[in-house]
Amino acid sequence: MKDVVKNIRGQMPLLNNRSTIYLDNAATSQKPMCVLDAVMKYYEQNNANPLRGLYDLSVEATEDYDKARKTVADFINAPKKEDIVFTRNATESLNLVAYSYGMNFLRNDDEIVVSIMEHHSNLLPWQQVSRQTGAKLVFFECDEKGYLDPEVLKKLCNEHTKMVCITHISNLFGRVNDIRTFAKIAHYNGAVFVCDGAQSVPHIPVDVQDLDVDFLAFSGHKMYGPMGIGALYGRTELLEKMPPFLYGGEMIEYVTRCGATYAEVPHKFEAGTVNAGGAIGMAEGIRFMQRFGFETIERIEEELTVYAFEKMRAIPHVEILGSDDPREHHGILTFVLDGVHPHDVATIFDAHGIAVRAGHHCVQPLHKHLKRMSTTRASMAFYNTKEEIDAFVECLAGIRKEMGFAD
Ligand SMILES: Cc1ncc(COP(=O)(O)O)c(C=O)c1O
Repeated sequence: MKDVVKNIRGQMPLLNNRSTIYLDNAATSQKPMCVLDAVMKYYEQNNANPLRGLYDLSVEATEDYDKARKTVADFINAPKKEDIVFTRNATESLNLVAYSYGMNFLRNDDEIVVSIMEHHSNLLPWQQVSRQTGAKLVFFECDEKGYLDPEVLKKLCNEHTKMVCITHISNLFGRVNDIRTFAKIAHYNGAVFVCDGAQSVPHIPVDVQDLDVDFLAFSGHKMYGPMGIGALYGRTELLEKMPPFLYGGEMIEYVTRCGATYAEVPHKFEAGTVNAGGAIGMAEGIRFMQRFGFETIERIEEELTVYAFEKMRAIPHVEILGSDDPREHHGILTFVLDGVHPHDVATIFDAHGIAVRAGHHCVQPLHKHLKRMSTTRASMAFYNTKEEIDAFVECLAGIRKEMGFAD
């Protein structure tokens, strides 16, 4: 494992340029040289406005952009590349579904089921749909260990349920939710299933056909790609019947003074100049992951998680949220240190050169459900090392003392 991690780290400029111990990978990952090179190469050699020009350079830019779409589609086993819409991030992907599908196909008597552990990005858009259409928001609650029970979902769904929106991996618990079963329950009730894959696609193999989800949203920047690019997978027949989300250039077929007909999927959802450099960078991030493979990624991340979990559990006054089984955390360890505010915890970590996240992590209703104001989160990627975990744990063990506690 040591040699593989050394190899991965060697490809990460930021990790070599700074001494920071970076444990905020659930927020964004660091970028390997191959991704930076791919983006640079695009701008140095192939840049033109894709999908517009009839000259060679623009045609090449269009081809590069199209190839990136295919790479993303294959990565999640989408039936075809046209099922992928490029967006800015997972948040925009989820908003696209809410605004284009939710606002247009939901009515007063309908119900939208969301889990209590949804990131605000998969909650606020549905609150808006509920406000504007009159559809009711129904909350699917987890137990205190972060388990979402399919039996509970079965009881919540009925003939009024039109959408079920659930995250694949929670950004607080790191636990994998049983999406295949949830999608089955949604479909049994005639509802559309929306999966937030922001935390799963970078860490575990995700197959949209096997999971049988109708939509999957994810971000390039959490999977070694650049910021400003994300993707939405949508089932063809749904994407086809949905109206555009944004209007303008490049998403039309024909425009008159008073109207327009729209381009084919996915272009009708990609109004204006696209982020071709971002898409190419995202595809390169995927190739970077594929060079190591999920077997390696999962093995390293699990080993690190188990190692950190066991050491943290041995520190008095530390409580880790979520499952008692470290293998159910997928690199995410959210915790509270008794008597110390998470902002103080993160500030002390920062003083030791360790980057962790503190606050509500965009899951405020979940914090309320767990009766917490805020928490601290350490999140790992497959380039982290056991030495970094040792430094993190040593710092954590000394924080209460630094804050003036006797033990
Ligand atoms: C589970 C989950 N969903 C959605 C998002 C939103 O991702 P982005 O900010 O890239 O749109 C995040 C970001 O942390 C997340 O963890």
